[in-house]
Amino acid sequence: MKTEILAITENNLKRAADVLRAGGLVAMPTETVYGLAGNALDGKAVARIFEAKGRPSFNPLIVHVASKAQAEEYVDMTPMAAELMTRFWPGPLTLVLNKKTNCAVSEICSAGLDTIAIRMPAHDGARKLIEAAGVPLAAPSANASGEVSPTSPKHVADSLGEKVDIILAGGSCAVGLESTVVDCSGEVPILLRPGGITKEDLEAALEQEIAVASHDDEAPKSPGMLLKHYAPHIPVRLNAVDVKKGEALLAFGSLKFMGVEGGGYAKDLPDGQILNLSENADLHEAAANLFAMMRALDDPQFTAIAVMNIPEAGIGMAINDRLRRAAAK
Ligand code: TXA
Ligand code: MG
Repeated sequence: MKTEILAITENNLKRAADVLRAGGLVAMPTETVYGLAGNALDGKAVARIFEAKGRPSFNPLIVHVASKAQAEEYVDMTPMAAELMTRFWPGPLTLVLNKKTNCAVSEICSAGLDTIAIRMPAHDGARKLIEAAGVPLAAPSANASGEVSPTSPKHVADSLGEKVDIILAGGSCAVGLESTVVDCSGEVPILLRPGGITKEDLEAALEQEIAVASHDDEAPKSPGMLLKHYAPHIPVRLNAVDVKKGEALLAFGSLKFMGVEGGGYAKDLPDGQILNLSENADLHEAAANLFAMMRALDDPQFTAIAVMNIPEAGIGMAINDRLRRAAAK
């Protein structure tokens, strides 16, 4: 049986909420990427998420809530976290905070850590689903582990098929990259994963510099930030200034006189071999297009995806982070 893709109506939200309360899995739209949601309080449901994704169980999941008050049921608040929630929630910001004593979130969700990653999504459909379910929802991106995150209901169906009970369709994701993850469990905030809320946004809100976690160590602070991730099946070549024979081109901005090996211009490549993240060099547009375009060019007829340089500013930092992972061997 094919998994049903349902529009967000009151009736379908009720059905999805019933599935969640019964321990099932629902793919839900968020403003960042589609999430594979299960009841965060139900260890068996969370185990199903890990199984459906083929995700290593040492990599903890984000708990999604519909309000700040709901977050406070599970984590110890700090002044810094409260400030960030006020400024950026609902939105693409995940905070890592210490678990409350007797926190009801299942151990497997936080992979046995003393902290929980928590976020309140901006997408209406996601918040309505959390409210309808009446429980916080654990949700990683709704793709098989290591693959490119889904930004449309079709991506979810392609990647997870029948492993998800219901897919709720809420359009294409506006941000298009996973949320920013900030560790606020200690004295100083640490940026664990760049995302839709930029380092500059965070620093302005907190009036202090934010440290960036290094992911080179053996035991990364955010266990999910293994170098190889978000990967297409064919190689990815960064900072391309030309197109090699057989490559597809993921462009950004003007192509000017970018050449193709053996002669010709990149702008004359056939449709399907070239996609532009943003012709106007708009970084937000590029972020929203990134995963869908990487998927579209991930075709074995090409030898690799050549990607043009993206400026390392604002959300460009998150785009480059995902591109480096996609290119990692
Ligand atoms: O935008 C998003 O965050 C999407 C949507 C669905 O909300 N979710 C998402 O989840 O990207 P996932 O599981 O793909 O990424 C969660 C990240 C991982 O890097 C994980 O290691 C980290 O958050 N994380 C989760 N709990 C943590 C914790 N207690 N301490 C440190 N890092 C944690
Ligand atoms: Mg993911």
